[in-house]
Amino acid sequence: MEKLHLLIVDDDEEVSEFMKLRLGRDAKHFVIDCAYTAEDCLKYLQENKVDCVLCDYQMPSMDGMEMLLYAREKGLDAPFIFVTGQGSEEIAREAFKNGAFDYFTKEIGFAHFARIINSIEQAVRQKHAEKARADAEEAMKKLERQRSDLFAMVSHDIKSPLTAIMGYSDMLQKETAKDQETSQIMSGIRSSCRKINGIMEDFFVVSRLESANYSLEESLCDPAIPLRDAEKDFAAQALGRKLRFRVRIEPGLPEIKADRTFLHRALFNLIQNAFAYTPSGGEVTVSAALGPGEKEIIFSVTDSGPGIPPDEQKKVFEKYYRLHSPAGRKGNGLGLYLVKSVALAHGGRVLLQSEPGKGSTFSIILPV
Ligand SMILES: Nc1ncnc2c1ncn2[C@@H]1O[C@H](COP(=O)(O)OP(=O)(O)OP(=O)(O)O)[C@@H](O)[C@H]1O
Ligand SMILES: [Mg+2]
Repeated sequence: MEKLHLLIVDDDEEVSEFMKLRLGRDAKHFVIDCAYTAEDCLKYLQENKVDCVLCDYQMPSMDGMEMLLYAREKGLDAPFIFVTGQGSEEIAREAFKNGAFDYFTKEIGFAHFARIINSIEQAVRQKHAEKARADAEEAMKKLERQRSDLFAMVSHDIKSPLTAIMGYSDMLQKETAKDQETSQIMSGIRSSCRKINGIMEDFFVVSRLESANYSLEESLCDPAIPLRDAEKDFAAQALGRKLRFRVRIEPGLPEIKADRTFLHRALFNLIQNAFAYTPSGGEVTVSAALGPGEKEIIFSVTDSGPGIPPDEQKKVFEKYYRLHSPAGRKGNGLGLYLVKSVALAHGGRVLLQSEPGKGSTFSIILPV
């Protein structure tokens, strides 16, 4: 049987020795030491691995309860079991409130040592289970951070050759502009590259935000710029999809501190969703405006699409959560999670106003 290291704390040496003798006789797997003051106990706990502390309540310079609180403050987490001379319900209640594992009066404990032994073993089992759970959680978190770091690295590394392919195919497309068939092929290559690029960028942003050592690359930005970029990015698509696409920028907006790449990806995702989920003939409006009190900038994307039922409105921001799946569109459910993560990383928030059958407005609200 595994040895359990026990510390008995009682200022009465005779009582300590008696408990040591009885427990040692009845439970051969206990290794028992004694401390006669709270100070000695705390010193002992700091220097030794102790599985359980059996302690008296009333002691000269520091009572058992103060000792327990002090031990926890110092990060000493051995389970405490009180075995007190002067028991009262109030002391018992306080002991449990302060995190003691169990409580006995000497009168009862000394008449039933098996109960104390049982309690010690239970306390140790519980402590081991808690530690195993905490270790497993820590290992999971570490794995998760490593995975995010790896994603960030891979998506960053893939970006450069992809940008080169896009550049080369741009050049080739110009060269082959007169040959319609080749030109079509080239435009197909470029559009596929752009899609891969978008997916990689999203993975990069999400994994950066999830990784342990991320920091935003913030600079002062004119809020109008990402909207003007979006106007260029989506104008052709709006024509193709027969969507009315409008951009509204309130004049004279103040600059905000933001990570341009991240903000661009967040807005791009909102507009991409609006385009994807709004049927042909509908409307998409993108806007930037100053919030009440001039303390916030509100970027909004409004569409006349299917809307989102109230009970789904929180869920759509969860990672990998998907709702509608228009024919032919296979998303990852990452877009809105990215939008929310980017907003939070900037000290901002997201807002969704939507009515099924009427449309949705997704907003990113960032502090000025
Ligand atoms: N403008 C919108 N109108 C209606 N539903 C929407 C809109 N935007 C998002 N949704 C719903 O919310 C879900 C989650 O959106 P999100 O952008 O996170 O993932 P996705 O678009 O499915 O995939 P990804 O963005 O990774 O390609 C979508 O599957 C869709 O059902
Ligand atoms: Mg999306």
